[in-house]
Amino acid sequence: MLSATDLATAAKAIDEAAEILRRGGLVAFPTETVYGLGADARDGTALRSIYAAKGRPSDNPLIVHAADAPRAFSLAESVATQAHMLADAFWPGPLSLVLPKSAEVPDEVSGGLQSVAVRVPDHPVALALLERFDGPLAAPSANLSGRPSPTSAKHVWHDLAGRIDAILDGGETGVGLESTVVDLTTPIPCVLRLGGLPLESLERLLGDVEVATKLRETDTGQPVRSPGLKYRHYAPNAPLYVLIGDRRTVVHALSQLYRDAKDKGRRAGFLLTQEAANLLNIDPSDRLCYVLGPLGNPDAVARRLYAGLRYLDAGAPEVIVAEGIDGSGLGRAVADRLQRAAEGSLLQADEVLARGTTLRALLEGIPSG
Ligand code: TXA
Ligand code: MG
Repeated sequence: MLSATDLATAAKAIDEAAEILRRGGLVAFPTETVYGLGADARDGTALRSIYAAKGRPSDNPLIVHAADAPRAFSLAESVATQAHMLADAFWPGPLSLVLPKSAEVPDEVSGGLQSVAVRVPDHPVALALLERFDGPLAAPSANLSGRPSPTSAKHVWHDLAGRIDAILDGGETGVGLESTVVDLTTPIPCVLRLGGLPLESLERLLGDVEVATKLRETDTGQPVRSPGLKYRHYAPNAPLYVLIGDRRTVVHALSQLYRDAKDKGRRAGFLLTQEAANLLNIDPSDRLCYVLGPLGNPDAVARRLYAGLRYLDAGAPEVIVAEGIDGSGLGRAVADRLQRAAEGSLLQADEVLARGTTLRALLEGIPSG
């Protein structure tokens, strides 16, 4: 673990990390979104070791990080006007652009596609590392494949200790969700992954944009445009259920399941907003409850989402129940991640109330009523 929390003393740690990368090693580093697992984007062998360390399917391409827009765009065969507009407006920042790849980009980066995703991260440690290394870094999120993305060096350590060469510790990440991925290789820009840059910000600049969902890709019978959409993601070990519906009903259903857990002594984890925690009168010392933050502050909720999933999971619950989050800005990306983590286990809150659903019924798959 190399400490880079204090930038004044981080220079030595960053030098060491750059040296490891030059030798073809793997270094986890902080970005403003989540921690990335970096390797030299020009070195096929180093790139293959990223897939091995994460247990990542080899057809899931990597995002390449660069210190500035010109260096990011040098990896593309051509750069659409819209790419320049987006880079001017949002880089450095939580936005990845998919562009036609230049011949120099190795297949290990693009997972066999003819495109490459690039971004300029907005984090002093990431930018200093990119400058020091003086080259592009491919970096997926620094978690074991399928686990929630890491928002602290401790999370990286938990998943990847012994599998990678170093971790640059830059403290907790600010955004907490991965970058928004926009495909600019088609006439209409298409959001392949909602993320740290709100959809509204993109729409203000581009007008209407398409938003790809796993469902829609399958419906149309077209090949999946973002291979990442195929795989299970962000999942805790315990089965996760997300309660959806109107706010009042969701809070009532949460309350029913929370009381059931307490009455029956069941180990159920609860992931919820401050408002719901207040209404349910939750004991602040309850190890199996994690408060994400105020409902009216989706940025705060996003920042704590993955830490919350990991925290609850570490308490080894039988089941985790999450309050469905909705709305605009990062709220929409949070909803997307929760739904993926739950793998479709969405519970209609009004049905939970009408049927008097219990945790036992959930766990045993009993259609109670
Ligand atoms: O915020 C982030 O984007 C973080 C930090 C470390 O930068 N990185 C990250 O990488 O989340 P990863 O590998 O966990 O997710 C990359 C996503 C995947 O869904 C992948 O399929 C998609 O981007 N992707 C990468 N290259 C692509 C390409 N050429 N075409 C379509 N999708 C691509
Ligand atoms: Mg990832």
